[in-house]
Amino acid sequence: MAKNNKLKGKRLDRQLVLELVRVTEAAAIAASDWVGRGMEKEADAAAVEAMRAALNAMKMKGRVVIGEGERDEAPMLFIGEEVGTGEGQEIDIALDPLEGTTLTAKGGNNALAVVALANRGHLLNAPDTYMDKIAVGPGYPEGIVDLDISTTENIKALAKAKGVEPGQIVACVLDRPRHADIIKDLRALDWSIHLIGDGDVAGVMSTATPGSQIDIYMGTGGAPEGVLAAAALQCMGGQFQGRLVFRNKDEEARAHKWGIEDLDRKYNLEDLASGDVIFAATGVTDGAFLKGVRRGKNGGFSTSTLVMRASTKTIRWIDTDHIES
Ligand code: FBP
Repeated sequence: MAKNNKLKGKRLDRQLVLELVRVTEAAAIAASDWVGRGMEKEADAAAVEAMRAALNAMKMKGRVVIGEGERDEAPMLFIGEEVGTGEGQEIDIALDPLEGTTLTAKGGNNALAVVALANRGHLLNAPDTYMDKIAVGPGYPEGIVDLDISTTENIKALAKAKGVEPGQIVACVLDRPRHADIIKDLRALDWSIHLIGDGDVAGVMSTATPGSQIDIYMGTGGAPEGVLAAAALQCMGGQFQGRLVFRNKDEEARAHKWGIEDLDRKYNLEDLASGDVIFAATGVTDGAFLKGVRRGKNGGFSTSTLVMRASTKTIRWIDTDHIES
């Protein structure tokens, strides 16, 4: 088994891998009751409550660094909240109990319950702002794409490295008016875009998923989701760059509050998530790489989960039947 010998910090306890599966499974099952019901808040609240209960059963000294918001705006899983039994390793946690609340409410594809664990201090305390992102999967020379060059230059560089024509590269982009320029540039050249309605953690991960048609992710999405996506790529391999985007002084102040001084800094994968990382995602609704929660005819549920660990580069696909007794 390939080991990551350049790993910073200590290895995480391997028992946490399966424990984390229980956490995302619980959140996904709770959210699944709300699929297609048009109630985003209720879906999110159900996932949060279930995830929190499952996290609190884990043997760790856990601290939420990417969560549901600050204490005054999130009753549970707020940033700074301590979770776990209080025994074991000191762990920082990035979570999104329901990545794709709108997707869930509308019954759309690709909603996930997502958590990443790392050693204390190894995940960026990203403020809840936007982030410019660019990501590719493994196997390319370091720095093959860059936030500071144009869309067409990035696609051309990637195509050259892959040994294909630029028109054969598929870019995944969130379907938002703010991405009009990226979309216009690619369309003008008749190059391919896979537009997604929501869920850019899955969008970034698809660049590194074997069998996926997506080569590159680009565009602006949530900064917390950027940290989660970077944690996933630490396990899967690949490259990621992100830069925080601030719409007003209040957002800048949030960044300062989390100790970020250089507001224009370009972050790479290691700056966002480093060392041993465990990442788990369970499908809430069907998606590109995970099936959503299925309800059994006689009660119970079936779930599909991806769980990965950076130090061992293990990627496990776990299908679980939760049989109602
Ligand atoms: P939520 O789960 O919080 O709804 O996030 C969904 C999402 O699509 C993220 O994947 C993405 O980073 C962000 O929203 C984009 O933000 P916006 O919808 O404001 O463009």
